Amino acid sequence: MRIGILGSGLMGGKLGTLFARAGHEVVFSYARSEQKLKKLAREAKGKTRPGTPREAAQEADAVLLAVHWSRIDDVLKQAGDLSGKVIVSCSLPMNDNDTGLVVAHTSSGAEELAKKIPKARVVSAFNTVPSEVFFSVFEARRKATRPSLVYCGDDSSSKRVAAELIRDVGFDAVDAGPLRIARYTEPFALLVGQLAYEGKGGPELAYRFERHPRKVR
Ligand SMILES: NC(=O)c1ccc[n+]([C@@H]2O[C@H](COP(=O)([O-])OP(=O)(O)OC[C@H]3O[C@@H](n4cnc5c(N)ncnc54)[C@H](OP(=O)(O)O)[C@@H]3O)[C@@H](O)[C@H]2O)c1
Repeated sequence: MRIGILGSGLMGGKLGTLFARAGHEVVFSYARSEQKLKKLAREAKGKTRPGTPREAAQEADAVLLAVHWSRIDDVLKQAGDLSGKVIVSCSLPMNDNDTGLVVAHTSSGAEELAKKIPKARVVSAFNTVPSEVFFSVFEARRKATRPSLVYCGDDSSSKRVAAELIRDVGFDAVDAGPLRIARYTEPFALLVGQLAYEGKGGPELAYRFERHPRKVR
């Protein structure tokens, strides 16, 4: 696939690099310096290049949205028309000092994003793991047990695209249901962040769901 990265920081830089290693064509965009985008593209190797948000989005089969909530409107404006595009968003609706969600309980960042770009097809994914975990999960992707990564969205074909990308970077893709389920996954992402950065788990924290045989009583 051709993948446009909107936001080439911790999440976008790492995921874009791994998408390229998995064989996808990647355009890195939206950082404060063009040098950084060039360096990312050079070091990711594979079919990668730096570009503007518009270039990243317009030719893409899927777009990864990985910017701070305060930058969403700006990056969407720069990306241009996203009608029909698969938008995989890892952006959490955090306040300016990253201490809490500004949208929660009765809606989610993913749902608010979908309202901003009604003609795009939004999937929420990748925000429930710390970015530090991505490279080691990718290295271990051929092992029998993979960590889980939940995703949700309303459009089945874009969810298939997201699930493929999730598997490509080494996770089990767990379909959590429609986009409104992001109301539950986004606060869960904060729990993971709390455990990773302030608990004992450390930023290498990832998780797996275990299936237990059902006992009929
Ligand atoms: N990091 C995590 O572990 C994690 C986990 C779960 C969810 N998330 C969510 O994922 C999203 C991205 O997080 P992140 O940690 O990847 O953030 P980040 O490292 O700050 O990356 C954001 C990107 O946006 C760029 N940017 C910021 N302001 C800009 C401006 N004025 N003009 C152009 N580019 C600008 C940054 O440029 P520079 O590269 O030049 O700084 C960077 O490339 C956030 O919504 C966050 O809540 C993050």
